[in-house]
Amino acid sequence: MRGDHPMKLAAELDVLFSEEQIAARIADLAAEIESDHREKELVLVGVLKGAFVFMSDLARKIDLPLAVDFIGLSSYGEATESSGVVKITSDLTRPIESKHVIIVEDIVDTGLTMRYLLDNFSTRRPASVKICALLQKPSRLRTRIPIQYLGFTVPDLFVVGYGLDSGEKYRNLPFIGAVKGA
Ligand code: IMP
Ligand code: MG
Repeated sequence: MRGDHPMKLAAELDVLFSEEQIAARIADLAAEIESDHREKELVLVGVLKGAFVFMSDLARKIDLPLAVDFIGLSSYGEATESSGVVKITSDLTRPIESKHVIIVEDIVDTGLTMRYLLDNFSTRRPASVKICALLQKPSRLRTRIPIQYLGFTVPDLFVVGYGLDSGEKYRNLPFIGAVKGA
């Protein structure tokens, strides 16, 4: 499909991961999550808004009983750079005490958002907390974040699509790309 994607927005992007590549990787991640969480009370927590597409595809590939919740976060500072000062804009709907939690995130960039969330969740006394991130930019990491389930690593490019946005645009693209010439 490279280059001939029917959506108008696609013309502005270089494809990094196709719809098919993403689906194959998600099937692997789901299988790993399944084998690690048999007989456990599992809750997937999606980080809004970027993780909504990934969350939806991942949850449907995990053949275990599970609960789904979402958390809304905003980071103060510039639009494309995390400041590390994070605010919860929409909290979980249920307690996670004694549950096995997997945070589902679109991308770990500096890691400051995930650092905040790990610290915040640890005060809620879950049985365990793990991270499932579709993407990571290792060159940008500023704090050590353990990612137990990782889709792909990406170079230091601004990536969009499959839930990720640039100024709210591109979230609805089925693949992940980088804006041409950016
Ligand atoms: P961090 O706190 O620097 O790790 O930032 C994480 C958040 O910044 C992600 O959840 C995304 O919402 C956003 N972000 C970081 N890099 C990108 C990118 O390349 N494209 C789109 N969003 C990004
Ligand atoms: Mg995000």
